[in-house]
Amino acid sequence: TELSRIRNFSIVAHIDHGKSTLADRLIQSTGTVADRDMKEQLLDSMDIERERGITIKANSVRIDYKANDGQDYVLNLIDTPGHVDFAYEVSRSMRAVEGSLLIVDASQGVEAQTLANVYHALDAGHEIVPVLNKIDLPAAEPDRVKAQIEDVIGLDASDAVLISAKSGLGIPDVLEAIVHRLPAPKGDRTAPLKAMLVDSWYDPYLGVVVMVRVMDGVLRKGDRIRMMQTNAVYSVDTLAVLRPQMVAIPELGPGEIGVLTAQIKQVRDTRVGDTITTERKGATEALPGFKPAQPVVFCGLFPVDAADFEDLRDAIEKLALNDASFSYEMETSAALGFGFRCGFLGLLHLEVIRDRLEREYDIDLITTAPSVVYHLYMRDGTVKDLHNPADMPDLTLVDHLEEPRIKATILVPDEYLGDVLKLCQDRRGIQADLSYAGSRAMVVYDLPLNEVVFDFYDRLKSVTKGYASFDYTITGYREDALVKMQVLVNDEPVDALSMMVHRDRAEMRGRAMVEKLKDLIPRHMFKIPIQAAIGGKVIARETLSALRKDVTAKCYGGDATRKRKLLDKQKAGKKKMRQFGKVDIPQEAFISALKMD
Ligand code: GTP
Repeated sequence: TELSRIRNFSIVAHIDHGKSTLADRLIQSTGTVADRDMKEQLLDSMDIERERGITIKANSVRIDYKANDGQDYVLNLIDTPGHVDFAYEVSRSMRAVEGSLLIVDASQGVEAQTLANVYHALDAGHEIVPVLNKIDLPAAEPDRVKAQIEDVIGLDASDAVLISAKSGLGIPDVLEAIVHRLPAPKGDRTAPLKAMLVDSWYDPYLGVVVMVRVMDGVLRKGDRIRMMQTNAVYSVDTLAVLRPQMVAIPELGPGEIGVLTAQIKQVRDTRVGDTITTERKGATEALPGFKPAQPVVFCGLFPVDAADFEDLRDAIEKLALNDASFSYEMETSAALGFGFRCGFLGLLHLEVIRDRLEREYDIDLITTAPSVVYHLYMRDGTVKDLHNPADMPDLTLVDHLEEPRIKATILVPDEYLGDVLKLCQDRRGIQADLSYAGSRAMVVYDLPLNEVVFDFYDRLKSVTKGYASFDYTITGYREDALVKMQVLVNDEPVDALSMMVHRDRAEMRGRAMVEKLKDLIPRHMFKIPIQAAIGGKVIARETLSALRKDVTAKCYGGDATRKRKLLDKQKAGKKKMRQFGKVDIPQEAFISALKMD
């Protein structure tokens, strides 16, 4: 296709502002998919995405559009993941296109993710067309939101397109705006091939499918290609465009977006952001900006039932085939037995993987507290990464320790501002900025990631009744006084409950933790001391008193079936327990004990 007839774009939006609905409308109104084949939210494929309404994997669709000027255009929409954990993937997808539609819900206005995503688009040098969605809603205030876009983002919104993605109102205007307001791609057909690897996924029938954007040169079916990061060479078996199902095509020229298969064994062999060139007469210089995927949040995953370990291993290996950003290694815990230490791009990523293991593979899991990666500066001059608080070496060997910090942006209605500031302050935050966008405050905080990985987001939602939006980027590492806190139950250390805490907060945390555990651990027939300690020093202690719990006592003798039912229930309850020495600790204690109120 001629460059001047191509438009490549993405849609940037805060969650729920209508990105998927608009994408579906564009696909439908151009006849790309017949009405009868139209399923809701075509671009979100995984169940989990559908259920939670989040788009996890980038995907794309090629749309043919005859514009009002009588010309035929090819529109390539790349769907970007909508969550902070996937910021690098978002930035790569953005580099693959020239423009963006900025969707803002006209009844809600600009949110934290609107900002985060629009910054990615601006970084990538995009032309941006503001689109105000949901103008069918009585609460829509297009003029106010236009002013907000101009104030907060600094984009001219006077020509914003007003639409209702739900009813279809304004969709033709969006298509015309794509053609006339977004630039055509540039590229040199005669130059050596340079194609960016935008995304890849595992398809059970086709193996690894790689999505590419050709920058220069031509990619043909049968070509021998080389991945410039890994230096691996493959030959292109299939070349196709997505409509959104695959339709074979003999070649992709500059500006075009498509997918290829090349007998690549695992998604791990492909690196998002890598440059693909031809094996012979290839490009010598890769496209700029490649970054290897780097897990930032780690946690242990252990089977509740030790007999499920092999199943867990199989499941994790399978998932890893399809997710290059997820890392894992075997871990043994005195408390939990055999399991895996897994690394994730962020908390959502962790949750998605855990859910899939439990749901798709039907494995009951114990998840240990998420931890970040600390840098340990040892007295012998070496520097080590610490992924697991249980591995913290003796303090006398460590000179100092650095932890990752983030820049968090929170948008919140005025009336909840006080609670948000308090929450950030409680989590060792340092306020960096506070400004107003209409009746909403925008707060920027410098926070330690370790205070955020656990339940910050839940707490934020609860103190603001769900009205706050939140986004973050990791800014770097800083030294701080962190120590390892251990928990002892019946005098035995429970390694899965070890955590890194700030020295000044250790006592408060330790106290909260032992109090929680006291409620979470059922009484036994003997007294159980529950302690939090730093090094050898106990900083908090509770004692669970002894009790003989006779569950059948309230059955007034007679009814045998009722009695049996109760006993069965107790047995089932037992299954979700782990034994530590003589003490049974319920599975949920591992997560609940770490939540702070
Ligand atoms: P993520 O995929 O989670 O990022 O969300 P999204 O931005 O793709 O939003 P989605 O398209 O799933 O829309 C969110 C909700 O808003 C859905 O319930 C839609 O039906 C609804 N919605 C989308 N567009 C409109 C609109 O124009 N008017 C109204 N009233 N509702 C809309």
